[in-house]
Amino acid sequence: MKHEVFHGSADAMPLKNWSVDTIITDPPYGMKWMSSIPRFGGSKKMSILGDDAVPIDWLPEAERVLKPTGAVYIFCQWRYWPIMATAVEDRTSLKVRNMIVLAKAAHGMGDCKRQYAPLHELVLYASHKPHLLRRPHGRPKDILPVSFVHSKYRQHPNQKNEDWVTVFIENSTDPGSLVLDPFCGSGAFLRAATAMGRRAIGIELDERFVGIARREKL
Ligand SMILES: C[S@@+](CC[C@H](N)C(=O)[O-])C[C@H]1O[C@@H](n2cnc3c(N)ncnc32)[C@H](O)[C@@H]1O
Repeated sequence: MKHEVFHGSADAMPLKNWSVDTIITDPPYGMKWMSSIPRFGGSKKMSILGDDAVPIDWLPEAERVLKPTGAVYIFCQWRYWPIMATAVEDRTSLKVRNMIVLAKAAHGMGDCKRQYAPLHELVLYASHKPHLLRRPHGRPKDILPVSFVHSKYRQHPNQKNEDWVTVFIENSTDPGSLVLDPFCGSGAFLRAATAMGRRAIGIELDERFVGIARREKL
C-alpha cells in the first residue's frame, strides 16, 4: 500500500472532517533541540522547525479530522508531558488514557555526568469513548520493549523506528484504516502503517524532509 505526504502545516490539515481512524505522531518537543550528528548540519548544527514551543495549536484540527471512534498517540518528552496532556483535554474532547513507555534496547546521550542515561520514550495515548482496543495478542501493556537504531542509519535527526508503532497500529486500526502522522519527518510511521496494510497520510512543514517521507523505503 502507498502513503501520501502533504507539504504543509499540521495546524491546517488538508483532510475532511471525520476521515482519519487514528493519529500517530511525534511533534517537535519544544526544547530548541539541535542535532550534534555531523551529517545533520555539522558544526552549524541542524535545528527542527517548530521546536521553540510545545506545539498544541494542531490539536483542534486533529479532533476535526478524527473519526468519533478514533484514537491519538503523541510522542512526548517527559519535561513537556504536563503541557501536552493538559492541552489534549482542554482543546479537544479526547481523554488521555495512558502514558505508554517505550523501553529502548540502548540508551541515548543526554548529559553523561549529570543525568541518568535516557532509555525510554513516552507516548501519550488519548481516545474518544467509543474507541476499543483490538487486542490481537491479548491486552497490550503500557511498557513496551523496542529496538534501537544507530544514528548512522537515520535520514532525519529525530527519526523513530518503524517497529515502535506496530502495537499502536494493530490495537487501534484495522486493515484499510487511515493512519495520519501530521508531523511525519522521514515518514517512519507512514511506512509502518502501510507495511501493515493500512492507508497512511503524512504532513510535514520542512521541505527538506518531504521528499524523504514520500519514499516508500529508506
Ligand atoms: C520529531 S520530528 C518527527 C520525526 C519522525 N517521527 C521520524 O521518524 O522521522 C518532527 C517533525 O515535525 C515537523 N514540523 C514542525 N512543525 C510542523 C508543523 N506545524 N506541521 C507539520 N510538520 C511540522 C518538523 O519539520 C519535523 O520534521
